[in-house]
Amino acid sequence: MAYPDEKTAFIGFFMIAASIQNTRIGSNIIDDLCRYLADIRLSRVWLGWVKGNPQAEHFWHKNNFKEIRITILWL
Ligand SMILES: CC(C)(COP(=O)(O)OP(=O)(O)OC[C@H]1O[C@@H](n2cnc3c(N)ncnc32)[C@H](O)[C@@H]1OP(=O)(O)O)[C@@H](O)C(=O)NCCC(=O)NCCS
Repeated sequence: MAYPDEKTAFIGFFMIAASIQNTRIGSNIIDDLCRYLADIRLSRVWLGWVKGNPQAEHFWHKNNFKEIRITILWL
């Protein structure tokens, strides 16, 4: 909550049990969460997914999230 600024919520990691994936539970949770956050005046939700995880990328696009930047980590 309120990270990286006071109007934003940040999702660190989101995971649904494999046995119930692809049953819309993930989309319903994100939909409810975003409505609640908007109700309490958090107008943005940020998160990251790993490039090369098409399952995650498709899921977030389907739930109306848009890329705003690509961060490359050098290990
Ligand atoms: C990504 C994830 C959170 C989606 O949750 P979910 O409840 O399965 O998703 P929903 O049923 O609401 O949405 C389905 C969409 O997710 C994607 N998806 C879900 N399970 C999938 C699977 N096993 N293989 C491929 N795509 C999958 C599909 O793109 C699907 O879209 P479609 O309906 O157009 O085919 C879940 O699959 C998960 O926990 N994955 C592993 C962890 C992960 O990658 N988390 C995201 C990192 S930030």
